[in-house]
Amino acid sequence: MVIPFVDLRAQYLSIKAEIDEAIARVLETSAFVLGREVEAFEAAFAEYVGAKFCVGLSNGTAAVQLAVMACGIGAGDEVIIPANTFFASAEGVSTAGATPVFVDADSVSYTIDPAKIEAAITPRTRAIMPVHLYGQSADLEPIWEIAAQHKLLVIEDAAQAHGSLYKGRRVGALSNAGCFSFYPGKNLGAYGEGGAVVTNDETVARHVRLLRDHGSERKYRHEIIGYNFRLEGIQGAVLNVKLRHLDKWNNLRRAHAARYNELLAGSRLKLPREMPYARHVYHLYVVQTDKRDALQQRLSEAGVQTGIHYPIPVHLQPAYASMGHKLGDFPESERQAERVLSLPMFPELNDEQIKRVAEVINQL
Ligand SMILES: Cc1ncc(COP(=O)(O)O)c(C=O)c1O
Repeated sequence: MVIPFVDLRAQYLSIKAEIDEAIARVLETSAFVLGREVEAFEAAFAEYVGAKFCVGLSNGTAAVQLAVMACGIGAGDEVIIPANTFFASAEGVSTAGATPVFVDADSVSYTIDPAKIEAAITPRTRAIMPVHLYGQSADLEPIWEIAAQHKLLVIEDAAQAHGSLYKGRRVGALSNAGCFSFYPGKNLGAYGEGGAVVTNDETVARHVRLLRDHGSERKYRHEIIGYNFRLEGIQGAVLNVKLRHLDKWNNLRRAHAARYNELLAGSRLKLPREMPYARHVYHLYVVQTDKRDALQQRLSEAGVQTGIHYPIPVHLQPAYASMGHKLGDFPESERQAERVLSLPMFPELNDEQIKRVAEVINQL
């Protein structure tokens, strides 16, 4: 039995009729870039996350870049981000012209450690960007307090956390702006690339909308120099269909996580912990062990596909070598990079598969 890490085909087959109909509609109208399907998705997703505005984009990295730029942050400014995130969180800050400043992660929640943020603030700091890593919200209240004290903005990287809750409210639009990715494997994934910025700030929304489409609101009139970061019509149509299933799928992920927790309770692995303030949506089910590579190898031999998110913390990436960071600068993030392993997690995973994964692990 091969157990895949994710199974996008199984999900497609479960909603095939709805998807095929939605894609056919785009083909018929030929609204391939932006257009009605994208507008409908933007309205539906804004309502879902409780935001006044949602601007659909070509991917989540563009969302990070444009959220930063639309908040008026650029050259000479610093944005605080966790060191244990996907590279794109930092990359988006850099392509906006600003400098990412890293802060270590918390050892239990995997999200940015609020107690370590103040030491990273300088006169150039303009924003804090918590990342709701693996599908669990960062602890936002202490972050908002620090931001208010130092007059900083808060931009949420919610690329892994569609439908995740912080103190009962959906993440993304709880701060100045939020960034989503709709990369196919995400909890809400397109059939290609996609992303969005959500915000309650009309000025930020308008700025993102201008930047995504060559600085233009009216055809062939360009207010500013922007980008071509538009969401495609087919992706809007697919996302609209899939949004209707998101809560159900997130509940299935939570049920699978609970089952893993139960079956692995007696193992020596460190299991994920749902924080009291959060409702985790388990984009990834991440365990820790000091024998990570051996465990991955054993699972692979047994036909169980796994992932490592992420093997190199951002401050040690070659791309940021010029910042002069070294091993030891963010010990918790570095420890996680050596120890984390992501087990198969997707809504269509079945109990037999979960039991098999647990069995292989418990045999070790
Ligand atoms: C935390 C985080 N931020 C940003 C991104 C970038 O999104 P995309 O891959 O759609 O550009 C991702 C996606 O992989 C992510 O996981």
